[in-house]
Amino acid sequence: MLGHHMILIGFMGAGKTRVGRELADRYQKELIDTDQRIEAIAGMSISRLFEVRGEPYFRMMETKVLEELLHLEAGQVIATGGGLPMREENRKLLHELGTVIYLQVDAGTILQRLQGDETRPLLQGEGAEEKIHALLSNREPIYRGIAHRIVKVDHRTPEEIADEIVQSMKKGEKT
Ligand code: S3P
Repeated sequence: MLGHHMILIGFMGAGKTRVGRELADRYQKELIDTDQRIEAIAGMSISRLFEVRGEPYFRMMETKVLEELLHLEAGQVIATGGGLPMREENRKLLHELGTVIYLQVDAGTILQRLQGDETRPLLQGEGAEEKIHALLSNREPIYRGIAHRIVKVDHRTPEEIADEIVQSMKKGEKT
């Protein structure tokens, strides 16, 4: 059902958590962040979880967390991990959860923001730029395909982005 919760999706570095916090403040909610939930359940960081249990285990946990979110009281703000929409079952769950808002970020901005980042296991090691390009071109159509709203984030502050989202929610736009 459209509008039940607001769910932010998008690539690593798009600002889903920061924008999510801004939105949650405005609606006087706690931000629900799927990565943080996973870290709390697993009792370790995402990087460590990838190391110890591997990516497939992490992906399974993403689906589990989404399923649990179906029981939340309506009207929450949810930030998701960048790879979460890649599983088809997760896309169905996202649509059940509410309005999916895609924070669209360019590769250049991602590179700038994530330079030296050590918390994203998928971008570690040599060739971070190539990895970003490859992942982004693979994911972009999927993000677009499930989004009810698309919001560009390059050169904008979390406040500006949250303003646009709040306005579009008021209007009930369907991009
Ligand atoms: C991932 C994105 C990360 C985190 C994990 C995998 C991805 O979240 O879930 O490192 O596959 O894009 P952010 O998008 O919050 O960085």
